[in-house]
Amino acid sequence: MQIIDKFLKEHRLSRPEYEELLSYWQNSEVVRRLKEEAVRLRSQYYGNAVFTRGLIEFTNYCKNNCYYCGIRCGNPSVERYRLTSEEILECCRTGYLLSYRTFVLQGGEDPYYTDEKMVDIIRRIKKEFPDCALTLSLGEKSYESYRLFREAGADRYLLRHETADEGLYRTLHPEGMSLKHRKECLYHLKELGYQVGAGFMVGAPGQTFSHIAEDLIFLQELEPQMIGIGPFIPHHETIYANEPAGSVELTLFLLAVIRIMFPKVLLPATTALGTLDPIGREEGLLAGANVVMPNLSPVKKRKLYELYDNKICTGEEAAECRGCLGRRVESVGYQLVEDRGDAVC
Ligand code: SAM
Ligand code: FES
Repeated sequence: MQIIDKFLKEHRLSRPEYEELLSYWQNSEVVRRLKEEAVRLRSQYYGNAVFTRGLIEFTNYCKNNCYYCGIRCGNPSVERYRLTSEEILECCRTGYLLSYRTFVLQGGEDPYYTDEKMVDIIRRIKKEFPDCALTLSLGEKSYESYRLFREAGADRYLLRHETADEGLYRTLHPEGMSLKHRKECLYHLKELGYQVGAGFMVGAPGQTFSHIAEDLIFLQELEPQMIGIGPFIPHHETIYANEPAGSVELTLFLLAVIRIMFPKVLLPATTALGTLDPIGREEGLLAGANVVMPNLSPVKKRKLYELYDNKICTGEEAAECRGCLGRRVESVGYQLVEDRGDAVC
């Protein structure tokens, strides 16, 4: 157990050492110690506050064909939709009244939303809600596009690296997509002054502890302000339909590990975690997470943004979601706050 003591003391390990650390994920004493330290660090910097991000899934069109993703372009069964600028702003208005101070625009890579259209949407949101942070999650774009969005007022960008291992990346994505480019995008976003979020799926088909160790090393190099990890969940219309979902316990273990590695990071308890376990998000908070991302998309469209099967929170109105999450967060001793929720420096 020397490795546990070393990690708790130094917060940094080498790749083989991370692999060894991961081998303890089912050891209840180790899990207890890591979660305890994660919660201690999280409250040192964020007290009992939990930040909310109002998620607006504004398009389910995508030009990519990531093999694990329900809305990839190769799935002909998806009923596609796009929100207009006015519909997006309406989601923000609803969210603002419900105390959200960060909006996340997320979608597939949809060429319909040209740079010009995106810049217009970003400007309109920032003009109407100057006290709110705006996060984009639009996938891989050119440096120039990222620059234009940043200049228009976007504050943050989420782009999970998905896996830092070249071989695994190749099996999960078709030719034409590359890990090198995805990583480049993340460094461009950093250079442009965005608060950057990277991350990966836990239990992606073919993933081993060695791959996860590589992910942790990459995160160590990138030092993002936000890290999104959630379990992989199969979608019935992908080649991985019959693969097992990622483990909730391993995801919780990794949330604790990541909190210890990056005490100030913004770490969501994801919807995917809540999908696999009815109290998955609460457990996530108890393992070091400090962010939740309730859905602000129009209720009629929510089921169409189906990245994986049985996604939760697709039937409720925004206000119900807010109320439900507020109660869940309070049930484990935390509090949703009305705040932009920037990372502490
Ligand atoms: N197009 C943007 C991008 O590529 O970053 C944002 C949308 S993409 C659907 C958001 C995230 O959903 C991905 O980064 C991926 O990790 C996650 N995701 C996709 N399919 C999933 C699945 N089957 N299970 C769990 N998460 C999934
Ligand atoms: Fe593009 Fe999933 S393949 S969002």
